[in-house]
Amino acid sequence: MSRPTVSLIVLAAGQGTRMNSDLPKVLHRVGAAPMLHHALRAGQSLEPERVVVVAGHGAEQVARAARAFDETVEVVVQAEQLGTAHAVAQAAPLLADAPGEVVVLYGDTPFIRPETLERMIEMRARHAVVVLGFEAADPGRYGRLVTRGEDLDRIVEWKDATDEERAITICNSGVICAETHLLFSLVSEVGNANAAGEYYLTDVVALARAKGLSAGVAICDEAETLGVNTRAQLAAAEAEFQSRARAAALEDGVTLTAPDTVFFALDTFLGRDAIVGPNVVFGPGVTVESGAEIRAFCHLEGCHISRGATVGPFARLRPGAELAEDVHVGNFVEIKNAVLDEGVKVGHLTYLGDAHVGEHTNIGAGTVTCNYDGVNKHRTEIGAHAFIGSDTMLVAPVSVGARAMTASGSVITEDVPAEALAVGRARQVTKPGLATRLMEMFRAARDASKKGTN
Ligand code: UD1
Ligand code: CA
Repeated sequence: MSRPTVSLIVLAAGQGTRMNSDLPKVLHRVGAAPMLHHALRAGQSLEPERVVVVAGHGAEQVARAARAFDETVEVVVQAEQLGTAHAVAQAAPLLADAPGEVVVLYGDTPFIRPETLERMIEMRARHAVVVLGFEAADPGRYGRLVTRGEDLDRIVEWKDATDEERAITICNSGVICAETHLLFSLVSEVGNANAAGEYYLTDVVALARAKGLSAGVAICDEAETLGVNTRAQLAAAEAEFQSRARAAALEDGVTLTAPDTVFFALDTFLGRDAIVGPNVVFGPGVTVESGAEIRAFCHLEGCHISRGATVGPFARLRPGAELAEDVHVGNFVEIKNAVLDEGVKVGHLTYLGDAHVGEHTNIGAGTVTCNYDGVNKHRTEIGAHAFIGSDTMLVAPVSVGARAMTASGSVITEDVPAEALAVGRARQVTKPGLATRLMEMFRAARDASKKGTN
């Protein structure tokens, strides 16, 4: 079956007063990504032709975040938040000529599953308007769905509901799907004569029914519709995201020694047979290939780890760290914006930043690329099969050629040609017997000063 053309509208104009925050609500993070990205990602599974985000509070920031997800996302500004129908109407000028279906999502509802959206689109064969509902454990102030089986009569907002209607436990998630032109035409008819004085998107159901059109309800798990209105709900959403990500990783053939202690980002990718030890944190933008191992207590973001590589324990990989196959990065090593070619070993206590290290080079303990002069960053280039002695300071910009060596304790300020040994340290001087003579002097001085104070 060919997929219908779909446009997506993501409502993201609300302030989120109860978050008690300067940040627009949809930009609060779950799994190291703004909630808006979760909604966009769920919608992306429908391969939408057009995606419109309705921004309001913090519109500029929200627009930036939307475009960071995908440059083709369009943003309209709803200057005043007059209700969900009013928000949808803002997208009408952009999507007036869009063919096919439109799906409305909320930017603060991160867990809608792609399968659920697919199901809604399928139900459109039977109903002009499809609404996503759920059986609420505690229906609280959600809009109530007045249903007869799969058929939906109308949606009544809690504020406007009778006691009888409030007793209904099937609630509105907010997700709605209809043919584009129909939805905009219904939305244009919505008024605001209700308890909140808002233009309710939910009114489109009764309006459609009044025209003799049918409306249907798709039911999903309540966990999918979990919306975030408070910091406590944000924390709950984070916990929910993490438990899903852990389960998905295990399902995908990743070994997690202690799953509950591993934290994922929305875009973390772990290949089959990757192994992740306890207490590992993935920030955004990490890909780990099959068979790589991340040992305990690592913090990784914006990096790529190839097949057969081992990282940690206690390593930090920052944006731009690229580890080729069979690279080993050991404890207390930090790597930023650096490419390590195949088989490179960086075992201990090292900082590599703005660097390239050629294949099979060994970086000794305590090596530092001194990449920052207080104003600018500079690059370090190290060739293949080189040996960087322990405690080498590489003062960038500087290069070390292939198969070259640096002596331990060296401060390297000049380029080292291939196959050369560079020694950049003070020559050792040895004074026989001086250690014991010095100690005797120190003790005598101490004893004399004690006598003096008695
Ligand atoms: C809405 C639904 C309710 C449903 C609930 C689910 C309506 C009238 N009510 O209520 O039936 O049970 O969601 O969570 O639709 N927004 C805008 N512009 C506006 C108003 C809202 O962009 O003018 C956005 C918000 O940022 C938010 C979403 O729309 O992402 C929902 O708005 P909110 O005010 O939270 O709606 P509820 O009152 O919770
Ligand atoms: Ca809400």
